[in-house]
Amino acid sequence: MAKAARKSRPRVVKTVKALREALADWRKKKAPIALVPTMGALHSGHISLVALAKKSAKKVVVSIFVNPTQFGPNEDFSRYPRTIEADLDKLTAAGADLVFMPDPKEIYPDGFSTMLKPTGPAAVGLDDKFRPGHFDGVATVVAKLFTSVMPDIAIFGNKDYQQLQVIKTMARDLHLPVKVIGAPIVREKDGLALSSRNVYLSPSERAAAPVLHQVLKASAKAIAAGEDPETVLNRGRAKVVSAGFKLDYFEARDAGTLAKLTPQQARPKLRLLIAAKIGKTRLIDNLAV
Ligand code: PAJ
Repeated sequence: MAKAARKSRPRVVKTVKALREALADWRKKKAPIALVPTMGALHSGHISLVALAKKSAKKVVVSIFVNPTQFGPNEDFSRYPRTIEADLDKLTAAGADLVFMPDPKEIYPDGFSTMLKPTGPAAVGLDDKFRPGHFDGVATVVAKLFTSVMPDIAIFGNKDYQQLQVIKTMARDLHLPVKVIGAPIVREKDGLALSSRNVYLSPSERAAAPVLHQVLKASAKAIAAGEDPETVLNRGRAKVVSAGFKLDYFEARDAGTLAKLTPQQARPKLRLLIAAKIGKTRLIDNLAV
């Protein structure tokens, strides 16, 4: 058996100052830098983003920060899984070059007074409706990560499809010189999208969870074949509810703006988006038509 080269752990920095010092040399050498923002509890979905970053740039920075401002008061901030040692092992194996792991006070020091308030795709009645303020927190922290790292490219998963559109729009609106790239959703064999929150699922909830992807697939096929979207969505909504979920939304939207479809409009490219709760766990997923 060939001996695998032992990779060294990526350097971990905790402050923006140390981050900028660590990046200075790469910047001087004009090495293209990719950023992969995460909240840790890393799984193969996150690692697929790191792999894409490795292919797209010379140096890869991964941030791990459970961002308090994007969690609602009744959400899972305090119990969000934190698995730092395992995360660093995975990032070592994936070949990340630098890990930015700030404390909350580094990102939100006393007196912090500048939150972004995105609209457009952040105000379309999807996750924004069920998680008020969530995208303010996401846009703010990602803007801070962008201005701290100043990456050439940044990679996000299509898994959080609304988030991806919000970030693309924010980067464009603020003239941030970063190319925001969306990456494919990594799924379990039975179709369930990988998520750090899947660890919350009981065995019976886990067994029910693939219905989200099944409904997305069947609905995309039916709509592509010409069936009326609202009829198809209603059928899907009933299926998800009968599998034991409490549905937040199941919608077909303009894939770029996430706007509602209007009858007069020529049919845009469509994206199906779903969010539903099983027990205490909220799952989201989406699929192109
Ligand atoms: P987190 O949920 O940790 O996700 C980090 C990145 O991994 C996001 O871009 C997300 O879309 C992507 N991702 C998660 N599951 C995936 C899967 N199954 N397949 C492909 N990509 C997947 O999203 C966040 O953190 C935060 O909101 C963040 C952007 C870091 C801002 O705090």
